Amino acid sequence: MANSLLSGKKGIIFGALDPNSIAWKVAEKAHSEGASFVLSNAPVALRMGQINKLAESCDSLVIGADATSIPDLENLFSKSMEHLGGKLDFVLHSIGMSPNVRKGKHYTDLDYEYYHKTFDISAMSLHKTLQTAHKLDAMAEWGSVLTLSYIAAQRVFPDYNDMSDAKAVLESITRNWGYFYGKYKKVRVNSISQSPTKTTAGTGVKGFDGFFAYAEQISPLGNASAASCADYCVTLFSDYTKMVTMQNLFHDGGFSFTGISKEVMDKFNS
Ligand SMILES: NC(=O)c1ccc[n+]([C@@H]2O[C@H](COP(=O)([O-])OP(=O)(O)OC[C@H]3O[C@@H](n4cnc5c(N)ncnc54)[C@H](O)[C@@H]3O)[C@@H](O)[C@H]2O)c1
Repeated sequence: MANSLLSGKKGIIFGALDPNSIAWKVAEKAHSEGASFVLSNAPVALRMGQINKLAESCDSLVIGADATSIPDLENLFSKSMEHLGGKLDFVLHSIGMSPNVRKGKHYTDLDYEYYHKTFDISAMSLHKTLQTAHKLDAMAEWGSVLTLSYIAAQRVFPDYNDMSDAKAVLESITRNWGYFYGKYKKVRVNSISQSPTKTTAGTGVKGFDGFFAYAEQISPLGNASAASCADYCVTLFSDYTKMVTMQNLFHDGGFSFTGISKEVMDKFNS
């Protein structure tokens, strides 16, 4: 059920790769709540072509950008403002990739070129996005910027590998930019720490099925789906959350504050 929460709002949504992507669900939800936006992804992801179907259904334009490239980001922000007819009210940064995870490198045997790439794509790209937006004065006052994180930023999940370090940096960038953008323009910046979710990035992590099932049994509400994450994102883009900034917001069915659940205890008591 739509509530016109984002009626008249303009934005950019990064990271819709296929219908499982969190960003894909956010785009569908934002569209149904009345937003207009540009979709963006890395050129290699655009070649897969699926994003065009989403663009059609959301009546939106696709502009490619490698989120590690400042010229690409400048082009994206300028063209988006031109196309949407003004400054932006929201940005979703839903981007992550680790070549070390992809190539199966262990945390104790990382390739440092890959490690740089992990940081650049999964963390620094948020800084670059915000710095570009600020330099181009692309955000409207009281705008909202969201990124996606994972609890491995705070606690050890061995197979999450160097993405854990990237998420810790990502959350720090969120706080620091939240401070400066709040002062400059009353723009808020937050991260959502999401449950394990069956997407291309999620299932690329070794042992994903195991920790998906574990998190499901620990969390009193079960794992949060990509669709419910989209609902949450929309509230954070809306005017009902104007004073929320610099936060890492757990959207995980209660996982982060549960020590143990009966279901998991029972496995050890039998
Ligand atoms: N799936 C999970 O379990 C889970 C849990 C918590 C947080 N997250 C985070 O959610 C975000 C979205 O991931 P997802 O699960 O929807 O998976 P996904 O694979 O659908 O999305 C990841 C996106 O990052 C994009 N990307 C990669 N390199 C890029 C670059 N250089 N420039 C621009 N875009 C680039 C990909 O093309 C893809 O669209 C990521 O930050 C991920 O770490 C995912």
